[in-house]
Amino acid sequence: HITKGSVVFDNVSFAYPESEEDVVKDINFQVAPGEKLAVIGSTGAGKTSLFQLIPRLYDPTKGKVSVDGSPLSDYSLDELRGSIGYVPQSPLLFTGSVTDNIAWGKDQATTEEIMQAAKDAQIHDTIMQLDDQYETRVGQKGVNLSGGQKQRISIARALIRKPKILMLDDSTSALDLATESRLLDAIDTYQCTMLIITQKITTAMRADRILLMDEGKLLAIGTHTELLASSALYRKIVES
Ligand code: GTP
Ligand code: MG
Repeated sequence: HITKGSVVFDNVSFAYPESEEDVVKDINFQVAPGEKLAVIGSTGAGKTSLFQLIPRLYDPTKGKVSVDGSPLSDYSLDELRGSIGYVPQSPLLFTGSVTDNIAWGKDQATTEEIMQAAKDAQIHDTIMQLDDQYETRVGQKGVNLSGGQKQRISIARALIRKPKILMLDDSTSALDLATESRLLDAIDTYQCTMLIITQKITTAMRADRILLMDEGKLLAIGTHTELLASSALYRKIVES
């Protein structure tokens, strides 16, 4: 069982099945249980591709990813995806109520749990303004929600499972600083390992360490202060 939430990448490379080119290149790093790691890097750097290897949306072409000291292949997909809250860059809602979408995969969720997850994801107030509140239909045949609202419903869906590892792929890009800060404060109370892809240096600085990717490679990993000292590209990003 995944009880701690440590993650280790061992010489991991990855190419998409239909492609020859590695988009993740020989990556090594470790994330400790409860640690918060931000992943930054320009568009196309391979951040999303790297993330997808953890809940096994794809498997590496070389190397090994481990969670809690065991290779991912030791876990069933149900177990992995039950313990890993993965919020994709462009989350999909299915046609159904807000409640259905948040509780998805957790059939026995109570109204209280659903509302708590929505509050923590900073989407509760928006839901309360919809015509039918938590019973409002969303998804293809439902009301239109903005990308940021869908992201937050998707975050609530991840939080309600109390994941050991929470992965946010640019999920806070649409939030203003104050709301994002409240969201990250709420996530702190979950005591999970958090991996967060972000474009914002202020968001990255809230993490314990920052991993900088460029063209599929891990260029640097460390604290903000360490990266300022060690990485010219990091300094360039901070100054821009
Ligand atoms: P942004 O989300 O734009 O910040 O980029 P990213 O850092 O998340 O990059 P991503 O991992 O999405 O892409 C890395 C490389 O993989 C790019 O060259 C993409 O064109 C390529 N790529 C991404 N998704 C796919 C896919 O489904 N199939 C193939 N063949 N290539 C992909
Ligand atoms: Mg991406």
